This record gives sequence, structure tokens and C-alpha cells, in this order.
Amino acid sequence: MKRIVILVSGRGSNMRAIVERCRGECWPAEVEAELADRAGSPGLDWAAEQGIATGVVEYRSFAQREQFDAALAGAIDRHAPDLVVLAGFMRILGAAFVARYEGRLINIHPSLLPSFPGLHTHRRALAAGVKAVGATVHFVTADLDHGPIVMQSVVPVRAGDNEQALAARVLATEHVIYPLSVRWFVEDELVLEASQVRHRRGASQLLA
Ligand code: GRF
Repeated sequence: MKRIVILVSGRGSNMRAIVERCRGECWPAEVEAELADRAGSPGLDWAAEQGIATGVVEYRSFAQREQFDAALAGAIDRHAPDLVVLAGFMRILGAAFVARYEGRLINIHPSLLPSFPGLHTHRRALAAGVKAVGATVHFVTADLDHGPIVMQSVVPVRAGDNEQALAARVLATEHVIYPLSVRWFVEDELVLEASQVRHRRGASQLLA
């Protein structure tokens, strides 16, 4: 069984989708713990109700980011994870942290990377007039919102779309591609070579 630790900051809908799919589809994996960078993250209560270990490494109680990163790594390593999943985790992680989990740290970003990394992606996409947006699951590298792409979803922009409408349609696709990507990881279906990720047996890595 592969061991998964999920990091969240807020709502936790992706975390929930992964836990539900993991259990419902009997993946060869267990979500061992959910950790947050702030107390009161809504996802924590839900995870605790599911019998998943929860913990908070309070970002604000550390003077320097490196100290936070070290404390977070300590909390993660207690669960000896094969995979660390960032699911709406709103902290930038330092290079040492990223190197420690190289090849077993993944993230989802609500844009078609490498377009629109960072915050306010939907607002910026609308302002740019793009005709399609989407979400990207990727391995994490020291570059914010960059790294080998596991899977992407494409969502057409409709006339009259606003940020909220777009975010909601993209989020619905996140709940499909993130669990599927994690499933592929725990089933050893992902091959990472030369900064590219392919599915070992050629499954489509695009939800369109
Ligand atoms: C998602 O849109 C994700 O792509 C981004 O943060 C949001 C988290 O939502 N990284 P949730 O906490 O999973 O509901």
C-alpha cells in the first residue's frame, strides 16, 4: 500500500475528491494524513470525521520560511509518505523542501500551465481573452507552478463568463484529473523522464 499525505490551506474539495476516490475505487493506497498551514481549514474537520490523522503546522508561528518548511517536513515524514499531494496549499515551498520530496510531490493549479502561474489565474485568463482555460496536475519543482505535467483539463470560455463561473467549471474538472493522477502515481503508471511525464500504458493525459 502506498502512503499519501495531503497538504491543504482552505476548502479542501480536491482533498476530499482524492480521499473518496481512493476508498471508493480501492486504490492500493491510503491517505494517511491531512496537514494544514493554518487552524480552522474546513478540510481538516472533514478529514478527521473520516478517521484520517490531521495536523496543523501554523505558518505564522515561524519567523522564517525555512523554519516553517522544516517543521512541515517533520510533520510529513512522521507518516513516511510515498506521495505528498498539494491540494490548495497556499504556501510557497523552498528549494530544500522541494528537493526532499523530488518525484513524489505533486500539485494542481487552475490554469493551463505554463500560462497563468500564480494567483488570480481566472481573472487574468479572462483579461487576456483566451478561449480556453483549464487545470494542470504537475510534479513540483523549485519554480512556482512549473514542473513536469501529469495531466491537464481544458474548459472552453463562454461569452459572459466571469471569474466565479469559470472557476467553478474548472474546479469540476480538477475533481476528475487530480484523483486520476494520484491513482496513476500509486499504481506506478507514471513515467517521469527528461522533465516529461507519460502514462506507462498510454492512457490519455488530457481531459477535454
Ligand atoms: C483549486 O482551484 C486548486 O487548483 C488551487 O487551489 C484550489 C483549491 O481548492 N491550487 P480546494 O481547497 O481543493 O477546494
